[in-house]
Amino acid sequence: MERPTPSAPVLVTGGTGTLGQAVVAELAARGLPARVMSRTAAPGVTGRVVGDLASGAGLDAAVAGVRAVIHCASDPRHAKQVDVDGTGLLLTALQRSAPEAHLVLVSIVGCDANPLGYYRRKHETELLVRGSPAPSTLVRATQFHELVATVSRVLTLGPLGLAVRGLRFQPCDPAWVAAHLVRVALGPPLPARLDLAGPEALSLAQALRLTARAAGHRAPRVVTVPGWGRVWRGFAAGSNLPGPDAVTGGSTYAAWLAHRD
Ligand SMILES: NC(=O)c1ccc[n+]([C@@H]2O[C@H](COP(=O)([O-])OP(=O)(O)OC[C@H]3O[C@@H](n4cnc5c(N)ncnc54)[C@H](OP(=O)(O)O)[C@@H]3O)[C@@H](O)[C@H]2O)c1
Repeated sequence: MERPTPSAPVLVTGGTGTLGQAVVAELAARGLPARVMSRTAAPGVTGRVVGDLASGAGLDAAVAGVRAVIHCASDPRHAKQVDVDGTGLLLTALQRSAPEAHLVLVSIVGCDANPLGYYRRKHETELLVRGSPAPSTLVRATQFHELVATVSRVLTLGPLGLAVRGLRFQPCDPAWVAAHLVRVALGPPLPARLDLAGPEALSLAQALRLTARAAGHRAPRVVTVPGWGRVWRGFAAGSNLPGPDAVTGGSTYAAWLAHRD
């Protein structure tokens, strides 16, 4: 087995997703070769391999000869199969074919502080990677601007908006996260987890108003309801907000709304 060279590609699992595409763009901007892995065809993407974390198909070919893996692939609906077990299969493939490759696992700020099923799986995946012999770094991010925009649209019905009391986000721009991921992947594993968050926190009610105005609509009148159940109470208590050690930056939600395509 050959040692990976600096010209060896960086594997981006889930390179067709929101974050993965930003990572691939960042690698291209730096003139670094990328290998994109997902289950489906991605027209126009060079260096693409088909791989399925649920079955393990294609993983050996995907990791062969890579210098690093930026692991963005995830499936909230099948998180046990894809995130937890699939990452286990990825670790096995790495051990077999590229044991020196630096694995950068993308996770979510506060995933260990909220009982949401997907978050529990994300934290399980973190523990799996941390307990493996693979050289690895764990990078958590807060909600992406895209997610806040989607949630805001769903919770706005014409002139009315619905918000959960106390729910706040400190959303971030995936392009900014991607720049950090690439920088981390090219270096040695970090000694501690890196948490990334956008520059400012905003309430769900503020997000609803900003989103509506950016789409050219009047800001909705927001009805606020209390959080119910452990998951929503966890969010309302700020489980998704970054701690004092988080690195903050990138565009604000308002700036992202104004400049997105
Ligand atoms: N969205 C957020 O607000 C947010 C915030 C913080 C952290 N994160 C984390 O960031 C990462 C990326 O999130 P995202 O929002 O960019 O995800 P996304 O847009 O939903 O993309 C998911 C990617 O995973 C791939 N994928 C799904 N199932 C797969 C399988 N069985 N085998 C191989 N690839 C598979 C998908 O490609 P195919 O469907 O083509 O296979 C797609 O490229 C995730 O780990 C997520 O937990 C997300």
